Amino acid sequence: MTDRELINKAVAASAFAYAPYSGFNVGAALECEDGTVYTGCNVENAALGNCICAERTALVKAVSEGRRSFKRMAVYADSDRYCMPCGTCRQMLYEFSPETEMLCVKSGGTYVSYKLSELLPNAFTLR
Ligand code: THU
Repeated sequence: MTDRELINKAVAASAFAYAPYSGFNVGAALECEDGTVYTGCNVENAALGNCICAERTALVKAVSEGRRSFKRMAVYADSDRYCMPCGTCRQMLYEFSPETEMLCVKSGGTYVSYKLSELLPNAFTLR
């Protein structure tokens, strides 16, 4: 799968975002080591602390179906700025695959890419 194909899946997933409080719709697409792709969107809640990001939606879908090793993730929001994963999502993804390549995408589809380990240096681990 090309970067562009993965990005297109993240863009499509953003259409399902439930973000009535922030109005910020995000989509993510996570490519597993075996080639499977899981998508996710952000899901907000009136109790704002319960909001979950698109990246964690995709991650939890993948892990709950037996995937634990990841190659790439695309994250998209229709925004002037590249959609960077929040600290919580970085930590959650790092648990499984510190070298995941993160494609951070903005309006129009341009993107920047980073290794997750670059985005979360000196990460906390227990193993
Ligand atoms: N959000 C994501 O889904 N992913 C990110 O990378 C950044 C933030 C969501 C959380 C919340 O629903 C909304 O965007 C505004 O913060």
